[in-house]
Amino acid sequence: MSDKLKILVTGGNGFIGSHTVVELLHAGYNPVIADNFSNSSPGIVENIERITGKRPAFSETDICSESETQKLFLEHGPFDAVIHFAAFKAVGESMEKPLMYYHNNIGSLISLIRVMQQNQVSKLVFSSSCTVYGQPDILPVTEKTPLKSAASPYGKTKQLCEEIINDVCTVEKLDAVSLRYFNPAGAHESALIGELPLGIPNNLVPFIMQTAIGKREVLNVFGGDYNTPDGTAIRDYIHVVDVAKAHVSALQRLYSQHSHNGNEIFNLGTGKGNSVLEAINSFEKTSGTKLNYKIVARRSGDIEKVWADTSMANKELGWKTELDIDDIMRSAWNWEKYLASNV
Ligand code: UFG
Repeated sequence: MSDKLKILVTGGNGFIGSHTVVELLHAGYNPVIADNFSNSSPGIVENIERITGKRPAFSETDICSESETQKLFLEHGPFDAVIHFAAFKAVGESMEKPLMYYHNNIGSLISLIRVMQQNQVSKLVFSSSCTVYGQPDILPVTEKTPLKSAASPYGKTKQLCEEIINDVCTVEKLDAVSLRYFNPAGAHESALIGELPLGIPNNLVPFIMQTAIGKREVLNVFGGDYNTPDGTAIRDYIHVVDVAKAHVSALQRLYSQHSHNGNEIFNLGTGKGNSVLEAINSFEKTSGTKLNYKIVARRSGDIEKVWADTSMANKELGWKTELDIDDIMRSAWNWEKYLASNV
């Protein structure tokens, strides 16, 4: 079924996008990457080729521009389906530049769906986030958990994008799967692709790696007084390769008899929460390296704890995670060492 299906992957040069392109190639799809390098590096396509032995087609395109996107469809289409990653994702930056986030994240989705309609492409996998839940009252979080007001413009763009897809699906021919990622981290086992944070990382795992390699002096653990067993906040860290594989399952879902016109939503997590201190312990254990860290005040806007109920994705997508937090730390550390020796 996957043979020769041509899949447009917007943001395919980015962290989750590049891992997904690798999994698509392994599964026999024909992915085409569209990326404007706003948060990625041009060398990624070569490394995808080194991993898979296949070179995906690439187009430098800003999906916010409908004319550029139309040109992409004309030059590289016809596409059978689209996986839409291209978006800004830094929570703090979105507080400082809300308009930039609304313009980019909402604008690109609208432009993309319009061009998909003009080209009779009706299958979409959308990259959403557990940020849409805020701090849920009951854990683990299921897809039916009521959404709270998002804490950042970034989070609001994910809520709005899901709503836009829902609304379009009710009146147009659009079949969508939206995947709500919990905390994706780690890198490909080849250490040829991974996360490339711009400037000072916001996220825990890249910050741990940069501290351990000596780029940062100390990791600040934000908050030691949460209502959790060790006082530090809890998240559901999911390996990026497991996240990538879920996109292949989501595509298969869109081609299965279970799929129906609408926007199906799935949580992508491991179902297990780990505290910040547990994450640090996992890093120290798997790398054999001591980490310099100190517990400081809470980071504003952070929630205390969240982890996923993954039973829907397990049952309906036939997908489950295969890797754990130790695999995340081991692979992220190998990637950090690769970066240090290749820059
Ligand atoms: N943390 C630290 N020190 C750091 C960085 C993070 O202690 O230097 C802690 C945070 O306080 C939090 C945990 O590590 O408790 C995870 O923080 P991340 O920044 O890695 O991830 P978040 O859970 O804050 O954010 C992630 C995604 C967002 C998404 C959000 C949804 O990065 O895109 O989940 O909850 F919106």
